[in-house]
Amino acid sequence: MSLNDDVKKVLVTEEEIKEICKRLGREISRDYEGKKLLLVSVLKGAVVFMADLMREITCDCQIDFMAVSSYSGSKTTGVVKFKKDLDINPDGCDILLVEDILDSGITLAYLKNVLRDRNAASIKVCAFLDKPTNRQADISADYVGKVIPDEFVIGYGLDYNEKYRNLPYVGVLDPRVYSAE
Ligand code: IMP
Ligand code: MG
Repeated sequence: MSLNDDVKKVLVTEEEIKEICKRLGREISRDYEGKKLLLVSVLKGAVVFMADLMREITCDCQIDFMAVSSYSGSKTTGVVKFKKDLDINPDGCDILLVEDILDSGITLAYLKNVLRDRNAASIKVCAFLDKPTNRQADISADYVGKVIPDEFVIGYGLDYNEKYRNLPYVGVLDPRVYSAE
């Protein structure tokens, strides 16, 4: 039994992931030239995307990590738990929040709120995937890798109960895996 057997269909291939990262890297490098870019990745799902994206960025940047969680299995609890803060003081920095997926938007709205009083020069959002149909918070991403339908996806950092993060592509999880939830 391999991880691939639980994938109903592939949504973003490895080739497409590379193209997306190159395009976003170009756009971000152009927009942040001469600024004090601080890439903030949201653990754990966004680490794979962060590692690819930062290597496509050609201007100066620093990186840091925050951790929150709001998911239990395949369902959002709607309550965000704060788990890890920044190590770097973002005073005067142009923060770019790097997220794996923007779904209800509750997580990013919460993080933007947490960062609001830290004197950052700007706060923007880069989401690898965007599921706009399920949005609950008033938030959108400034940079989007790919807009996808409202299906539960795994791979490329995204998990279901901490599994499947190591798949090199994004796939739709076969509903039989979580139907017993
Ligand atoms: P939001 O707060 O609903 O926007 O959810 C954001 C977080 O929920 C993401 O950073 C993911 O960690 C997780 N998430 C949302 N949708 C999915 C999915 O389809 N698969 C895996 N994780 C997801
Ligand atoms: Mg996440």
